[in-house]
Amino acid sequence: MPDQVTIECIVNGKQVRTSIPSGMLLTELLRDVLGLTGTKVACGKGECGACTVLLDDEPVNACLMLAAQVNGHSIVTIEGLASDNEATALQQAFVEEGAIQCGYCTPGMILAAEALLRRKPEPSEEEIREGISGNLCRCTGYTKIIQAVQKAGVLRMRQKA
Ligand code: FES
Ligand code: FES
Repeated sequence: MPDQVTIECIVNGKQVRTSIPSGMLLTELLRDVLGLTGTKVACGKGECGACTVLLDDEPVNACLMLAAQVNGHSIVTIEGLASDNEATALQQAFVEEGAIQCGYCTPGMILAAEALLRRKPEPSEEEIREGISGNLCRCTGYTKIIQAVQKAGVLRMRQKA
């Protein structure tokens, strides 16, 4: 029986308290314990970004983190972005720009872009490329993803005005 640890954290705005094996990965906590399967696992070794979530507003690769490391911290997954089932401007822009094909990279890509837009509301193309540089997409060729992030930046600024 592996060592158990009790962690408390906030996931998508909700308090979570649970006892887990000390070696459990954050991806396993999110997907298998909490049922948040929007967080994807592809490479499992920090190379593709499919597992990106926000940890205290910063993008991290959940496949590289132990669940125990998020004790006392706040996590946002793709399920936590929309409210009242209404897509965010960023999610809507991905749909409108055709920035999704198979969709496997999309949750991580959107969370990386979300983190970028929070610190840089109107990023340049260069800044977007840098912001999503840890997220691989084998379908879209990136052009539409970059257009979607640019569009979302403009929409968000308009919503705030
Ligand atoms: S699954 Fe985590 S970086 Fe690829
Ligand atoms: S849409 Fe298929 S990997 Fe990005």
